[in-house]
Amino acid sequence: MTTTDALAATGLTLRYEAREVVRDLDVAIPAGKVTVIIGPNACGKSTLLRALARLLTPAAGTVTLQGTDIRSLGSKDLARRLGLLPQSPLAPFGITVADLVGRGRFPHQRMLQQWSADDERAVSAAMTATGVAEFADRGVEELSGGQRQRVWIAMLLAQDTPVMLLDEPTTYLDVSHQLDVLELCRGLNRSEDRTVVLVLHDLNQAARYADHLIVMKDGAIAAEGDPATVLTEKLLEDVFRLRAHVQSDPVFGTPLVIPITSVTEDAG
Ligand SMILES: Nc1ncnc2c1ncn2[C@@H]1O[C@H](COP(=O)(O)OP(=O)(O)OP(=O)(O)O)[C@@H](O)[C@H]1O
Ligand SMILES: [Mg+2]
Repeated sequence: MTTTDALAATGLTLRYEAREVVRDLDVAIPAGKVTVIIGPNACGKSTLLRALARLLTPAAGTVTLQGTDIRSLGSKDLARRLGLLPQSPLAPFGITVADLVGRGRFPHQRMLQQWSADDERAVSAAMTATGVAEFADRGVEELSGGQRQRVWIAMLLAQDTPVMLLDEPTTYLDVSHQLDVLELCRGLNRSEDRTVVLVLHDLNQAARYADHLIVMKDGAIAAEGDPATVLTEKLLEDVFRLRAHVQSDPVFGTPLVIPITSVTEDAG
């Protein structure tokens, strides 16, 4: 870990009862950058994110947030500094959009002053940024999958943390809303120097939005660094069992992955 790391883990072993998902993993998330994590289904991306956010207690190893062991932080303190949007969050039954987004303000509230003008501003800005203000009074379960996903993102924005972890925030969204969310994340990073970690499955979006790309395979880090260096045809074959052509994106200059076929195990 260096002082430029927002979040770091050393010697991390993560398991669910007997099932070991991650073993002795070291990872560093650079501060003030957008880090994207990619990797096949079940390789441990969500598990790692949950451990970084202290939702999963490691069997071994340490997670530090700006150099402080996260075990030593109070829960409100941690929630003011780090926010996680899980892959499949569950809303309390019957809650309205505005109330759910408002829950993002919990770590900022004090015992006696329950709801402040700052809270009101943060909630309304978050709903506007994600385009959900028009649904404010509707029940969350009445929304479409994509609308609901944007409400969760609004809740994370309302939490207003310098470090934001988002596990597949673009799932359920149509392409233009996917780009809106990615631009929003990058905008917060560029304008407010926030550290953003995104788990994505779209390799081209990952290449385009990552300052730092982390590739996971079988609970370990297979490669990391600049997307242009990391995303090679060989890596795609080794990690994703994908035969692909990689060229420079004619618009953005980042790697453009053109999938050709999946590679079966016995094809060698
Ligand atoms: N709550 C749980 N209890 C037991 N095993 C779990 C639990 N959550 C995940 N796992 C297992 O841990 C492994 C890693 O799961 P994880 O959700 O971290 O994968 P992922 O990389 O996020 O995959 P995806 O791309 O499908 O979201 C999988 O084998 C999964 O079955
Ligand atoms: Mg996952």
